Amino acid sequence: MISLGIESTAHTFGIGIVGPKGKICLNLRETYKPPKGSGIIPAEAKAHHEAVASKLLAKAKNSFDFSKLNLISYSKGPGLPPCLKVGLTAARNLAKELKLPLLGVNHCVAHIEIGKLATGTKDPVVLYVSGGNTQVLALAGGRYRVFGETLDIPIGNAMDVLARRMGYGFPGGPVTARLAEKADKFIEMPYSVKGTDLSYSGLLTHASRLIGKESNENISHSFRETGFAMLTEVVERALAHTGKKEVLLTGGVAANVRLQEMMAKMTKARKAKSYVVPESVSGDNGAMIAWTGVLMAQAGVCEATHDISPRQRTDEVKVVW
Ligand code: ATP
Ligand code: FE2
Repeated sequence: MISLGIESTAHTFGIGIVGPKGKICLNLRETYKPPKGSGIIPAEAKAHHEAVASKLLAKAKNSFDFSKLNLISYSKGPGLPPCLKVGLTAARNLAKELKLPLLGVNHCVAHIEIGKLATGTKDPVVLYVSGGNTQVLALAGGRYRVFGETLDIPIGNAMDVLARRMGYGFPGGPVTARLAEKADKFIEMPYSVKGTDLSYSGLLTHASRLIGKESNENISHSFRETGFAMLTEVVERALAHTGKKEVLLTGGVAANVRLQEMMAKMTKARKAKSYVVPESVSGDNGAMIAWTGVLMAQAGVCEATHDISPRQRTDEVKVVW
């Protein structure tokens, strides 16, 4: 089973081709950059995806023999409807042209599956931390259940906003990480874990009010220590509750070395192990959609109708593979 996967949920349009045991044959992508100081403008992202879709497809056709494909997969959601529609249309046309079956894949499930493939983890507690998501997930009863999540803004977004308010550009995560290394003081900040959920808006407001009064270095350090300690607490609770022995860090914020350190320390103390999805497949990409399509098809999933599902939640998907 060889699948071609199309990703188009938000800023990235990607085409990936993955074989039966998870061999990534191809992973092409192009990312839309919003105007300075702005978030994604859906109409612009859509236009970007439309402009690059045929170019990337032609490139893929040149580097891989499409007659070997058995399946077309596309990202059905969650995501921005105009962007999702570009992916669906491209996938539909390709499936029709090549007379191949088509499968709609959940974007968040795909992040988890490519992470498991890349790290060799079998049954991890997943910490998915990006600009758009902050969730702790674990497989239970045949679904990836959301064990805990942010009640307001995602941590990556909080760091992007904080950095912007300090006068730096996007993305703010790496900027605040660099600043934090030069700090000389920890400032107490609101630590907000509610049950197994997290809240970052109070922390962001508090940190933002200190801009100009404390150094950016000390603010970044204190924000990071507080925000990441909250994540570590919830992941530790998930490990204790589920009895699982692996943690998988994914999403853009997983690249943060301090977060990796905190997770490694906590898991070591619990005789568990922490893994980080390599950057090559941690951002949005087509290979993760292709691979999840392979898993679904091999488990016998087939779909008669195809649509987008902009608000689909991770735990709506039955993990039958
Ligand atoms: P998704 O659509 O899955 O929510 P996304 O659109 O936010 O993903 P990603 O590339 O997964 O895209 O994540 C981007 C986020 O990761 C940004 O908020 C950025 O600041 C953050 N980030 C990137 N590198 C680091 C780092 N070293 N430390 C902290 N945050 C980081
Ligand atoms: Fe994503």
